[in-house]
Amino acid sequence: WENSGMAALIPVINRVQDAFTQLGTSVDFELPQIAVVGGQSAGKSSVLENFVGKDFLPRGSGIVTRRPLILQLIQDRNEYAEFLHKKGYRYTDFDAVRKEIEDETDRVTGENKGISPHPINLRVFSPNVLNLTLIDLPGLTKVPVGDQPADIEQQIRDMIMKFITRDTCLILAVTPANSDLATSDALKLAKEVDPQGLRTIGVLTKLDLMDEGTDAREILENRLFTLRRGYVGVVNRGQKDINSRKDIKAQLDAERKFFLSHPSYRHMADKMGTQHLQYTLNMQLTNHIRDKLPALRDSLQKKMFAMEKDVAEFRNYQLNDPSRKAKALMQMVQQFTADIERSIEGSGNKNVNTN
Ligand code: GDP
Ligand code: NA
Ligand code: MG
Repeated sequence: WENSGMAALIPVINRVQDAFTQLGTSVDFELPQIAVVGGQSAGKSSVLENFVGKDFLPRGSGIVTRRPLILQLIQDRNEYAEFLHKKGYRYTDFDAVRKEIEDETDRVTGENKGISPHPINLRVFSPNVLNLTLIDLPGLTKVPVGDQPADIEQQIRDMIMKFITRDTCLILAVTPANSDLATSDALKLAKEVDPQGLRTIGVLTKLDLMDEGTDAREILENRLFTLRRGYVGVVNRGQKDINSRKDIKAQLDAERKFFLSHPSYRHMADKMGTQHLQYTLNMQLTNHIRDKLPALRDSLQKKMFAMEKDVAEFRNYQLNDPSRKAKALMQMVQQFTADIERSIEGSGNKNVNTN
C-alpha cells in the first residue's frame, strides 16, 4: 500500500462494526460494507475460505450459516483468528474456529436450526489476505427441516434484505455457472434492491462444472446481465476435493491453470480467479468507504445528538440500563467520529496513521 491513509479506512469501519455488534445495533446502521448473498450451495463459503487459504467455515446440507458472520480479514505477519465474543483468545487451529462458529450459532439460535440476525464477528489475521471485510449471510433456502419454522425462507429473505437494501451495502452476488443465470437467487435479490446494477459485484462459481461445449464468456465479459462492477469467475474445490482435504493452495494453482488454458477465458485470465477477486474487492471496498465516510460521520453525529437528548431525559428518572448503554454508545460514536475525521483527512494524504 502506497497510500497509508486509504489503507486505514477498512480498519476504521471494522472498529465501528465491532462496537455496534456489542451494543446490538449493527443491523440498523448504515455502514459501508460488502454482503455475500446467494442460494444454498452456490459456493459462498468456498469463496471466503479461498481468500484465507484455510478451511474454517461450517459446511453441510441444510442451512449452515444461520447468523450473519462478519468476517474481517486483516493482513498480518502471523496467522490466527479471534472472535469478538472471545476477545484475547487467539485461534491457530482453524478446525476449532469452525467448531466455535457452530457452537456460537447454536448458543443464540437454539438447536432447532432457527436463524438470528445477531452477527458473529470474526477477525482472521494472515499474511495471505488483503484487508477486506465481508458479511456472510444465510443462503436462500426453500425447504424447512426438523422443527425449523415453516416460514424460514421468508425469514432468511428478510434478513438478507435488511442488509442489502441499504445504499451503503455492496452486494457480492454468488451464482453457480452450471445453473440458469436468469433464475439465480443472488442476482434476482440484487436486482430488487439495485435495479441498475450499480453496487452489485457478480461472482460466477463452478465454471469447471459447465456442460461441455458451453461457457460463461458472455456473462464474464459483462455483456449479458450487465453490472457496473462486472463479474469475476472462480473455480473452487469440488466436494470430492473437500472430502479428501485438498489443500486450498493447490486449488488456487489449479484455478489459475484453468483460466490460462481455457479457450473462452484465457484472454481475460488476469481478471479472473480468487486472487483477482480478493484484490478487486479490497479496492472497491476501500473506495466505497472513502465515498461514504462523510455521510457516515454526519449520521453518527446526528445519532450522538439524539442520544445526548435521551441521556439527559433518562437522568430525570434513574440511572438504569438504557441510559448506561446510550452513554457507552455515545462515547464510542465520539471516538469513531474523530477516527473518521482523521481518515477523511488522511485518505488524500500519505504518512498518516495506519493502525
Ligand atoms: P454455500 O452453501 O454457498 O456456502 O456453498 P459451498 O461453498 O459450501 O459449496 C457447496 C458445494 O459446491 C460444495 O460441495 C463445494 O465443494 C461445491 N463447489 C463450490 N464451488 C465450486 C466450484 O467452483 N467448482 C466445483 N466443482 N465445486 C464447487
Ligand atoms: Na443460486
Ligand atoms: Mg455456506
